[in-house]
Amino acid sequence: MLIDKFDRKIDYIRVSVTSRCNFRCLYCMPNTPFDWIPHEKVMRYEEMFEFLKLAIDEGVNKIRITGGEPLLRKDLDKFIKMLYDYKPELDLALTTNGYYLSEMAKTLKKAGLKRVNISLDSLKPEVAKKIAQKDVLDKVLKGIDEAINVGLGVKLNTVVMKGINDNEILDLLKFAENKNLTIRFIEFMENERAYPDIKRVDSKEILEKISKEYNFKELPKDNSASNYFEMDNGYKFGIIEPHSDNFCKKCNRIRLTAEGFLIPCLFFTESYNIKEAIRDGNIKKAAEILRDVVKNKPEKNDWQEDEVSTRAFWETGG
Ligand code: 5AD
Ligand code: SF4
Repeated sequence: MLIDKFDRKIDYIRVSVTSRCNFRCLYCMPNTPFDWIPHEKVMRYEEMFEFLKLAIDEGVNKIRITGGEPLLRKDLDKFIKMLYDYKPELDLALTTNGYYLSEMAKTLKKAGLKRVNISLDSLKPEVAKKIAQKDVLDKVLKGIDEAINVGLGVKLNTVVMKGINDNEILDLLKFAENKNLTIRFIEFMENERAYPDIKRVDSKEILEKISKEYNFKELPKDNSASNYFEMDNGYKFGIIEPHSDNFCKKCNRIRLTAEGFLIPCLFFTESYNIKEAIRDGNIKKAAEILRDVVKNKPEKNDWQEDEVSTRAFWETGG
């Protein structure tokens, strides 16, 4: 079992399979060139699988595949199937911008994927285009419907930005409620790569806007990153507030990047190279590195101190 210094059980790994993306979201990588990373730098699926087996054997029971945009990596369904076949009970999830889901949802579901989180920042084509710097809304909406159709669990994620999409909170909430999907509103996490004019909207302001039309109560915190709220009619929505202490208290996760670095905290810049040990077939060393990462997981992130992260989100999948 993997337990950190603050008695948190680490049973969740987020795996970024590529740092490439076909969107250029203002809060993530607005100015990153569409570059190409040499093949040998990227961990092969078999290498990631070797490491993940180790983690699963140590008690990890949830794996989320992220990017960049994970659906850009070839043969993702085969990787999902490897994980599923190793442990069918794994909570196997994926975070995606949704663009390619209408084509891929069925194959992914068949491979063993259980759930997807899809980014949806606006319901207005021109605003969605401004945020992603690409005309995406139509495809994303089709992707959402197809994911529901094939029987995947679906949640929606919205990063709320002042003056850009904060006037759509109620519309997005109603859209999600109509489809009976949970939506989570995410506070923008300040980072050096984001577009400089982006301003976050605090959870308090988000809740104030919602309370204009709905009664709701807060539910007890579980160990997901989100706080959940329940409306009078039973519909549940979430808020992700990395600027609050609560965000880290029950954090149960570490991250693996496509280039083979293990990262103990979303904000923090420390990382531990696991690729070399795996490539050398040195599983004992890989297990030691995994234990070190867990041991050195910080108590909390520095957004709570109003810092700006230098971490590139497209490497760690948000
Ligand atoms: N702030 C908040 N959320 C972010 N994400 C990416 N960058 C940020 C940021 N700076 C989240 C978004 C995106 C997911 C992959 O990660 O929800 O949809
Ligand atoms: Fe791509 Fe996701 Fe970053 Fe947007 S937030 S640019 S979809 S990786």
